[in-house]
Amino acid sequence: MKVGKDIHKPKIPLAKPAFNKEMERAAVNALRNERFVLGESVYKFEEEFAKYCGVDHAVSTSSGTHALQIGLTALGVARGQHVITTPASFIASSNVILHVNATPIFVDIGLVTYTIDPEQIKQAIRRKTQAVIPVHLYGYPADMDSINEIANKHELYVIEDACQAHGAFYKGRKVGSLGDVGCFSFYPSKNMTVAGDGGMLVTNDEKVAEKAAKLRDCGRKSKYVHDLIGYTARLNTVNAAIGRVQLKHLDEWNMKRRRNAQIYSRLLSDIDMLILPPRGDSETLPVYHLYVIRSRHRDRLKAWLESNGIQCGIHYELPIHLQPIYKKMYGFEEGAYPKSEELCKTCLSIPMYPDLTSGQINFVSEKIHEFFA
Ligand SMILES: Cc1ncc(COP(=O)(O)O)c(C=O)c1O
Repeated sequence: MKVGKDIHKPKIPLAKPAFNKEMERAAVNALRNERFVLGESVYKFEEEFAKYCGVDHAVSTSSGTHALQIGLTALGVARGQHVITTPASFIASSNVILHVNATPIFVDIGLVTYTIDPEQIKQAIRRKTQAVIPVHLYGYPADMDSINEIANKHELYVIEDACQAHGAFYKGRKVGSLGDVGCFSFYPSKNMTVAGDGGMLVTNDEKVAEKAAKLRDCGRKSKYVHDLIGYTARLNTVNAAIGRVQLKHLDEWNMKRRRNAQIYSRLLSDIDMLILPPRGDSETLPVYHLYVIRSRHRDRLKAWLESNGIQCGIHYELPIHLQPIYKKMYGFEEGAYPKSEELCKTCLSIPMYPDLTSGQINFVSEKIHEFFA
């Protein structure tokens, strides 16, 4: 039996970020031969990522949060305006609205895809509403046709939070390319990473891209001349170099995630007390950033799986409106967004990454069956 550190390690982790020799070589090469900040790899990564998403421009940033914040600012969203989003997300989707001094207006999700409910967007629109941030949660595309139709009618900007959905397709187009701006995160647990924090904003609007590139670089017009109040929010060269290698693998990794999701869904479909993730169809191709099952017995199921060496996650324990800081600021109470709350009470993320083997998926599924038996 192994002793020491390993004894507490889960046998099957929740996620497994990739880092191989090719990425290591690219990193060392960039560190040795390029400027540490805004080196050649940064611009190449942006070009390649824009091409991957099928858009004209990509601007890299130091995080997905900064991509969203810079996207809002580049579109002119500012103090006094409303931005609609969903409370069923990572807190950054809403924090960025506050970072630009605008007000987040939450609307609930649907419980089939866990993405924003377009009907409820309509009801939340006011004179001050300036933009909508749909979140492609867990890698499943939001209903972008309906969202864009509402946004066009009311002249709202659409900023896609694609931080969990690199490479997902919606009606033949990649997510991120469907709104005015799309934003991605390269945090280590994501479908692709830069081996650290990082983000990317994509757009077809040249002016927005130019402004975003300035904003992430201290508002620089030239070296010591600044015509915007910007941020130090650049992606480091070494991270961009790693991101370029990861991007080459993304489609294959997503394919493996989909294959793994298919196996899970087949093995778990006979458990009545379990709700499985949406599968996608001919028009919607999800990328399973997370494989999230739902159960009334979530906490006991999580404890059972973890006692069997299977790491689990809860995405998320609280919907954003019930986070202590949002309750304090806005006085939100339980019951305000029942579907987001229901998701948070019942969701359980089970291991999902490209290299998960069918043996491991079988083992996790068997343990889930044992629990319900
Ligand atoms: C849906 C969503 N939005 C925004 C973010 C923020 O990205 P980052 O952590 O790179 O700032 C994340 C990352 O966790 C996310 O999952």
